[in-house]
Amino acid sequence: MDMAALTYLGIESSCDDSAAAVVRLGDGGMPEILSSVVDGQAALHAAFGGVVPEIAARAHAERLDHCVDRALAEAGLSLAAVDGIAVTSGPGLIGGVLSGVMLAKGLAAGSGKPLWGVNHLAGHALTPRLTDGLAFPYLLLLVSGGHCQFLIVEGVDRFHRLGGTIDDAPGEAFDKAAKLLGLAQPGGPVVEAEAALGDAGRFAFPRPLLDRPGCDLSFSGLKTALLRTRDALMAQKAGITVQDRRDLCAGFQAAVADVLAEKTRRALAIHQDIADGPPALAVAGGVAANRSIRARLETVCASSGARFVAPPLRLCTDNAAMIAWAGIEQARIGLPPGEELVARPRWPLDANAAPMIGSGKKGAKA
Ligand code: KG4
Ligand code: ZN
Repeated sequence: MDMAALTYLGIESSCDDSAAAVVRLGDGGMPEILSSVVDGQAALHAAFGGVVPEIAARAHAERLDHCVDRALAEAGLSLAAVDGIAVTSGPGLIGGVLSGVMLAKGLAAGSGKPLWGVNHLAGHALTPRLTDGLAFPYLLLLVSGGHCQFLIVEGVDRFHRLGGTIDDAPGEAFDKAAKLLGLAQPGGPVVEAEAALGDAGRFAFPRPLLDRPGCDLSFSGLKTALLRTRDALMAQKAGITVQDRRDLCAGFQAAVADVLAEKTRRALAIHQDIADGPPALAVAGGVAANRSIRARLETVCASSGARFVAPPLRLCTDNAAMIAWAGIEQARIGLPPGEELVARPRWPLDANAAPMIGSGKKGAKA
């Protein structure tokens, strides 16, 4: 393997964050994030209660080149000094993905640098190697506003999907729960704060799909249960109190945590059965920021003797450092550049896994 240093520019625009980053893999094999710029669009979409694809695509087209300029400036490099460019070429909202791919193609053509197309989910999945040097294979739980799946990460381009949501992603469920209770978006952090002051035992929430074998998950029923319980309270007394709202959040969050913990226990058991080395669970996605969910996952790992790896939150949520890193990983194992450079709204990591049933508000899931 060529151990010369590699410096890559990464570009990400598959959802509502315009991002660019420069990552360097030094001679000694230690990666370093030289810059990571994320220009979020939350304010643009806030009034619509979800990401509006056309608004996202236009914002990416306007902002991405500034993100690239900033990322290069913060890294103290010119485009001529990077070894390659990596861009998210799917899955995601197609207008945004196209903005990134077109910009990257222009930069590559103008500079003569090789260009790699990166699967956004592979970016998340390979992040624990950037942050913690995790060796293959490991189990990844991806839990965000748009994704929810268990993957065994076997290699840079080898993923085995054990299960995922059949409807909403958990972050989407948190966001909808917040909306139903009149709380701000994004819902996750707000619901978590309310839940900390509530009684999780007061209202009975379902634990979807726990009665079925396997690692698939479902979250849309929890949202419906929350709606029904809220409406029953409103019918009784023409409104809900502050304490009602806290108790609803606590009950809802406990149900999400229970389901994620049990399905993680099952996925870890499968991973342990097939891995020779020590088992490890890595998490990615915004929901991994939730302290009570994280604590439950840590407990599951401790009781299965598995290592628990949670990259820092700015690298768990959407960013371009993970895309630059995935480009470096692809280059390092000799995958040819350019191959995947068609923008793809859907792009499952594991082509052999059963297709997903659901598709979330944040765009196509893989
Ligand atoms: O990974 P991310 O930034 O974006 C994508 O969806 O790709 O995840 C955002 C999601 C939102 O749905 C947000 O409500 C959720 O992650 N989230 C949380 C928490 N912080 C963010 N959910 C539960 N608890 C949190 N503390
Ligand atoms: Zn993502």
